[in-house]
Formats: sequence, C-alpha cells, structure tokens
Amino acid sequence: MHHLRTRAVHAGQQPDPVNGAIATPINQTTAFGYGTLDNGAALFAGEVKGYRYSRFANPTVTALEAKMADLEGAATAVAFSSGTAATSAIMLALLEPGDAIAFLGPLYGGTESVFRSLGARFGIEVIDASERGLAASLTPATRLIWVETLTNPTLQLHDLAEIAAIAKAQGITTVADNTFCTPCLTRPLDHGVDLVMHSMTKYLGGHGDATGGIVSGPEQHIERIRKLGLGQLGGNLSPQDAFLFLRGIKTLPLRMAAHCEGAARVADFLANHAAVAETHYPGLPSHPQHALAKKQMQGGYGGVVAFEMASGGRQAAAAVLDHLALFTQAVSLGDVDSLACHPATTTHSVVPAEVRAKYGIRDGLIRLSVGIEDPDDLIADLGTALAQSSTGPKGG
Ligand SMILES: Cc1ncc(COP(=O)(O)O)c(C=O)c1O
Repeated sequence: MHHLRTRAVHAGQQPDPVNGAIATPINQTTAFGYGTLDNGAALFAGEVKGYRYSRFANPTVTALEAKMADLEGAATAVAFSSGTAATSAIMLALLEPGDAIAFLGPLYGGTESVFRSLGARFGIEVIDASERGLAASLTPATRLIWVETLTNPTLQLHDLAEIAAIAKAQGITTVADNTFCTPCLTRPLDHGVDLVMHSMTKYLGGHGDATGGIVSGPEQHIERIRKLGLGQLGGNLSPQDAFLFLRGIKTLPLRMAAHCEGAARVADFLANHAAVAETHYPGLPSHPQHALAKKQMQGGYGGVVAFEMASGGRQAAAAVLDHLALFTQAVSLGDVDSLACHPATTTHSVVPAEVRAKYGIRDGLIRLSVGIEDPDDLIADLGTALAQSSTGPKGG
C-alpha cells in the first residue's frame, strides 16, 4: 500500500474515461438518465448498480467517499452536508427508542445538543460516562459509544484501544469523531473503533470555504446510515462542495504538518508566558496525557492550542483576543488562516455553566486554531496581544 501522502493525492481518483481530465469533474446534475424503462426498473429495484438521483449518490461525492474510506482504512464511507448531518444520521440510523448512547466528554457542544434533543424526543437515553468511567456507565441498553479523538476545546485524549475493547466485549458500536486529528494523526479504525466521522468543514477542506461531514466504516453500518441519512433525512453533500473537499484533501498531509509545527511552537511560547496559567496541547510534556498522545497519535499533535489566562477571566481573555491581528476571532478551526475564539461565550455557550466548569472551560480560556502562517509571525502577534493583559512576559 502507498504512503498516506500518496493516497491523499491519488485515492478515489481516475482520469476521466472520456477526455482524460485528471481533476475529478463536478457532476452538477440532480438526475441521471437511465435510458430504458427496464434499466430504470432494475436500477430502482437495486438489481443493477448505478446513479439515479444525486440525493442518493453522485459521482463527485462517490470519489470523495472512496478517498476518505481509503485514508481511514475503512471498507466504505458516506458523505453529508455537514458534520452535524452525519452525527444525527448515525444516531437515528443505529439507535431505536429504548436504546442508550454513552459518550466521553467534553464533546463539541453541537454534538451533545443533537444527542440530548433527539434523545429526549425519541426515547434514547444519553449517558455522560466522563465521571464514572465508561465500563461503569454502560447499561444493557447501550448500543453506541461516542468519543472525540482530541476533545474540544481542552484537548484531552481517550484511549481508543481500551474503549474499543470494552465496547466489543458487550457488542456495542463505537464511533470516534476524528475532526481534530484527521487520518494523518490518528486512525481510529486501526485501534478497533467501528466508525469514524468528521466535520470535513475543518481540516479536510482546510480553506474555510465548504461545509461537510463524512462517516467511514464497515459496509453494513454505512449502508444503514446512508439509507436513513440521505434517503430519508436528505442531508446529502453537494457535488460542488465534494470537489472542494477532494481538492483540499490532496494537500491535507502537508497542511497538517504545518499546523502541527506552528501549534507546537505556539504552545511552547504560551507555556512559558507569565500571563498564561495553563496551556493545553498534547505535544507538551506537561499535558496530563502526553504519554497516551505519543502512543496514539503519529506525525504531530494537532493544530489546536487552548490556554487559560493567569488572572482576569473573561476581561483578560477579551483584552488578548481583541488585540490579535493575524488570528481572526471566529469559531471554526482547521483553516489555513489562524483563528481564535472564547469557548465559554461561543462554541460552548449552550453548555450549562456547571458542566463547563467540570470540563475546565473557564472564562479565561482561549482556543487557537493555528493556521499555516509562519510560526514566528503568529508568536509575535500573540506576544503583542498578551502584553495587553496586566502581567508582562515571564522574566521581562
Ligand atoms: C469536533 C467536531 N465535531 C463535529 C462538528 C460539527 O460539524 P459541522 O459544523 O460541520 O456540522 C464540529 C464543529 O465545530 C466539531 O468541532
């Protein structure tokens, strides 16, 4: 098998059989002509394979699904119009009323809110296993376990092999949201996880110009998720956006290397700054799970860094954020441009204050998505902004 960098370019792609075009064409069509009544009947009866209507499948989207399945080491994949469309499709396709879903938090706030609101309406119990631990929290009704490979925003890890072993022993399906790591840094299926999902909106697209989601895994699960998520919920990805993701993924390994390099430099700078109480980055030896990160991640520790102001809470965070010039204040992540946000009032504002406190999402916490700019420029920008807070640089 070729290396990931080669597969990121070539997987899912063949030159166009008619004209030799190398870039996958955007098949901007809703329907596909099937020629004769008999062919149409066979297509709709599932007796022959082929395209019929873009909500179910489209060749540009198929190429993207093949590329991502290859990178994740999965049999197949299904793409959606957003990460959230993928999340709700997984939940509704794999769970019935009376079932339970367990998660290890903190999760992206939007994901937890999908679980809780759909769970309450459709009789699915939602179990936060973070406090009691996974094994102690599972019930006979638990059918799905959900984790993130790096948690948002405090960058904790979960031992994927351990979780998969607990789940397998009880016949429970595991899902890992790999948005923060991408297959360049972590491949959950290699650790025994069943399904891996992404908000492609982040690193896979990489340029902040398309919204999408994808789930990869075994045929049997993916076909159920496809049938419900596309056939019934209708959350299909557009061919235009599929093209942007196909293009973005070609440079994913190069971009991830630059994100990781920049984030490591930024984390090191912040960890030694007097105005900063705590820096969350799995690549720092001071990170409580640095050993697990070394074991579970390869090629770097990601592009997101979070840090806690030493004093002044929200006011100090605002002083820093409002003085950044190269980091744009915005909630997404994974773009080539650097972004910064205040999780307590944005991404995690829907999370109750006591739950935020439990996960360390305090008012002085700032999350950075380190882009691919020169790390020296980003560090200088942060240094200038931090000088606005009351304490100066360490020793300075
Ligand atoms: C880890 C994670 N999962 C899922 C999502 C949801 O993805 P989308 O915004 O594409 O719906 C996000 C969005 O921020 C995220 O950060």
